[in-house]
Amino acid sequence: MAENHQANGRVYVWDLPLRLFHWALPLLLGVSWISVELQAMTLHELSGYAMLTLLLFRLAWGVIGSRTARFAYFVRGVPHTLEYARALRSKAAVKHIGHNPLGGWMVLLLLTVLLLQALTGLFAHDVSGTAGPLAGWVSYDAGEWLTGFHAWNFDVLLGLVGIHLAAIVYYARFRADNLVKPMLTGYKDVPHAHEPLHVAPLWQAVLLLAVVAATVYALVRFA
Ligand code: HEM
Ligand code: HEM
Repeated sequence: MAENHQANGRVYVWDLPLRLFHWALPLLLGVSWISVELQAMTLHELSGYAMLTLLLFRLAWGVIGSRTARFAYFVRGVPHTLEYARALRSKAAVKHIGHNPLGGWMVLLLLTVLLLQALTGLFAHDVSGTAGPLAGWVSYDAGEWLTGFHAWNFDVLLGLVGIHLAAIVYYARFRADNLVKPMLTGYKDVPHAHEPLHVAPLWQAVLLLAVVAATVYALVRFA
């Protein structure tokens, strides 16, 4: 990208694909929820496939994407995370460029629970005869269990989203760290100049998304 990703103590922390991925999550979660309440199961399945596609994209982007998107960049060991948590209590924690060590673990948890939700949906069925495309791959009992899990896991997801939002309010209110603005604009204000971070080219994201979407389509269509 030709854009200057660092100017006047600002650093480009979240690339466009990651930001679009993020804001699609509340949107699709809302569609999934409303559609199931309205018994609009075709819409429910479509939003679930979109969610699955985005999640698989995000996992791969965590390996080949921009610096801050990479798991290797933000997943820190337990000692480092505990040290960060202690510093947080003493109010000495520094602002992070990208996810902080606690946030990194939360991201992994959210992605795992979201992925489980989308995957179990593929095997779920309801009384009206709507069934995910892979429901035929498992026994009736296993299908029942996976459907129960799909319902239970959604409550877990809502709980995690609640914690996620509370953490964002905490950082804004008590740590003077506005995390939302960077997730909207890509840029974070930092007190000192910071070296620009590696930004993966946009074409790479578009190509990856196309490959992942084709894979999900093939799975659903030919299962
Ligand atoms: C409701 C569904 C939501 C889900 C499932 C969700 C999930 C996630 C995930 C998975 C990430 C990690 C991003 C990544 O590295 O891929 C993230 C980060 C983030 N989310 Fe959400 N999110 C939701 C809603 C929101 C809302 C409504 C806001 C703002 C008001 C928000 C603000 C943020 C911010 C600021 C970050 C970056 C945190 C950081 O700087 O480390 N999220 N979210
Ligand atoms: C991450 C995406 C998804 C979310 C957030 C989600 C959410 C939900 C929720 C909240 C329910 C109602 C559970 C209850 O009975 O209390 C449900 C049911 C269901 N979902 Fe999903 N779902 C997702 C993906 C999928 C996918 C991909 C499929 C299949 C293609 C699917 C198929 C079903 C079916 C068949 C039911 C009805 C099961 C029943 O009646 O209990 N879901 N989903």
